[in-house]
Amino acid sequence: MIHQRNILVTGGAGFIGSHTITALVEAGYNPVIVDDFRGADTTVPNRIEKIVGFIPSFVIKDVSDKAGLKEVFEQYTFVGIIHFAAYKAVGESVQNPLKYYRNNLLGLVNTLELALEYNVPNFVFSSSCTVYGEPGEIKEVTEDLPKGFAASPYGNTKIIGEDILKDVHKSGSHINIISLRYFNPIGAHPSGLIGEFPIGKPNNLLPMVTGTAIGKFEEITVFGSDYATTDGTCIRDYIHVMDLANAHVKAIEFLESGKSSFETINVGTGQGASILRVIQVFEEVSEVKLNWKFGPRRPGDVVEIYANADKANHLLNWYPKYTLEDSVRHAWNWEKKLQDD
Ligand code: WQD
Repeated sequence: MIHQRNILVTGGAGFIGSHTITALVEAGYNPVIVDDFRGADTTVPNRIEKIVGFIPSFVIKDVSDKAGLKEVFEQYTFVGIIHFAAYKAVGESVQNPLKYYRNNLLGLVNTLELALEYNVPNFVFSSSCTVYGEPGEIKEVTEDLPKGFAASPYGNTKIIGEDILKDVHKSGSHINIISLRYFNPIGAHPSGLIGEFPIGKPNNLLPMVTGTAIGKFEEITVFGSDYATTDGTCIRDYIHVMDLANAHVKAIEFLESGKSSFETINVGTGQGASILRVIQVFEEVSEVKLNWKFGPRRPGDVVEIYANADKANHLLNWYPKYTLEDSVRHAWNWEKKLQDD
């Protein structure tokens, strides 16, 4: 019997998850995706098939249903787990905190309990730069910076999630753990076959830029023009979703090497870009004039944050391959292909 290197990918039909599936297959792993498609498009499996040549195993389950999730652990032996399944809309989490605490934390606890019960050796957690809160004067954040005050229940579920993992590690459990702190994932697979499927009006910048350019929205509002930054607009670390996907493969490979049993790692380019810079890049690569205006600041926005990515570079031997221009170009390519579908 061929011993497949099965990786359980919860929430694997989502934006980051679907791109990570393609990277896992390319690296020789067999992804088993658990997703109930509440935050994903049902065309994703067939889109992935066009990229990797087959439809990976998709199991329609809700990670907050432990009994249902257990059936997957009965069926497969996993060499690792990548846990994406969580709600991630910052604004919605403020309106409906219990929805976020229940789903994000119960889903993590269920998956971890089953991982321990079935002796799965490696676990990668989808965390976020939101755990830093407002870094203030320290704009380039390193992993040892204390976790800040989460500006939203969503961000708090990531802070609590990391603390749960730390306590599981400290309890002497066998499982090796990496928390990956994402910065701002943007773009789409170069093929234009998978990308971000925002549900309703997107909160995030890039889908709003491409959606406005394609005519879905009248104009985009730039939230705030009076920040203490180079051009008065907020600065973020925009990372290509495929670079982020590859970081997950590197994380699993690192854990399989047994070099360490518990790490927290930033995954960002190490470069900050302002909103006006992103708009400028978009207009350059698309040759489309974007209809935008300045508006009031958005509550909860961090002024400026970008990754110190040294740890990802040196520990995981991971380096971003794509530029901001590539990310914006692939995002625009995806938006146009979605329009044609
Ligand atoms: C970026 C900048 C906005 C829309 C979020 C999550 C974080 C992570 C990344 C998951 C801000 C400005 C946006 C618009 C704008 N996700 N903006 N007009 O808030 O940095 O982080 O995505 O892990 O957890 O919180 O990303 O894209 O919403 O905003 O001016 O129409 O773009 O004000 O300054 P954010 P974002």
